[in-house]
Amino acid sequence: MTGTGSIGACLERGARRLAEAGIPDARREARLILAHALGIEPVTVLGYPERPVDDADRYEELIARRAAREPLSHLTGRREFWSLEFEVTSTTLDPRADSETLVEAVLAAVPDYHAPLSIVDFGTGTGCLLLALLSEFPNATGLGVDIAEETLAVARRNAGRLGFADRAAFAIGNWGESLTGQFDLIVGNPPYIPAGEIAVLQREVTDYEPRRALDGGEDGLDAYRRLGPDIFRILRPGGIAALEFGLGQGTAVERLMLAEGLIAQGFSRDLAGHDRCLTLVKR
Ligand SMILES: C[S@@+](CC[C@H](N)C(=O)[O-])C[C@H]1O[C@@H](n2cnc3c(N)ncnc32)[C@H](O)[C@@H]1O
Repeated sequence: MTGTGSIGACLERGARRLAEAGIPDARREARLILAHALGIEPVTVLGYPERPVDDADRYEELIARRAAREPLSHLTGRREFWSLEFEVTSTTLDPRADSETLVEAVLAAVPDYHAPLSIVDFGTGTGCLLLALLSEFPNATGLGVDIAEETLAVARRNAGRLGFADRAAFAIGNWGESLTGQFDLIVGNPPYIPAGEIAVLQREVTDYEPRRALDGGEDGLDAYRRLGPDIFRILRPGGIAALEFGLGQGTAVERLMLAEGLIAQGFSRDLAGHDRCLTLVKR
């Protein structure tokens, strides 16, 4: 047993170690890690600094992992998206706040929240996009597709824990290759980082997130080239598609989708003001 002391002392020690490791917002992260390690609310850490900590081993271990740049979400196993709490693991992409842009774009494009939509989510990961949409469209059902079975297991658990198991299904697949039928709404946040740029991303991403969730091929657009024909084939006439893309890729993604016969409805911007999502319709 090491590192005993008070909550306040543990917090100071952890925050210092994270700051030395170059973690921005070190104090806040140390507080969240301490709360997780002790099984208490983060607010308790702030409110009871004098409370003794009998065994800080777990906390020290988690601080060391964070100092080695493992993402906070991998330590806690949780990440919030669209005000829903998602399980994340090293097999899934950590849902990004910018991806909420896609959910907002769909809400703007489909004003009838009671529509009994059939949804496909390509590259579902944790299931965050699909489950956020199911939370907004109470009569919708959806299918999340991913190439990795271990990722789908996480998505299924998220659907169960968040209460959507009866409206969400998950299937392994290489984009839409094996899908038949017609769907009302298709969404996707495929891997879009140009392969040569992955090595220079934050270590939290390059060292800990699955490469298959990041690597978009030489120009970052490989997945869109594959998805274009699939989307056109399985989107019903009048149906909507919404695709997330990386910085500066909007025009290229639009060109690929228009070449398949889809009609662009417009771009939506993320929190930083960058075009992040393209909405399309099939006539
Ligand atoms: C950028 S992540 C997005 C995950 C999730 N939708 C999100 O927004 O957090 C891309 C996802 O696409 C999946 N993927 C990669 N190649 C695929 C393929 N050929 N077919 C289906 N899914 C694929 C990855 O496993 C990963 O979960």
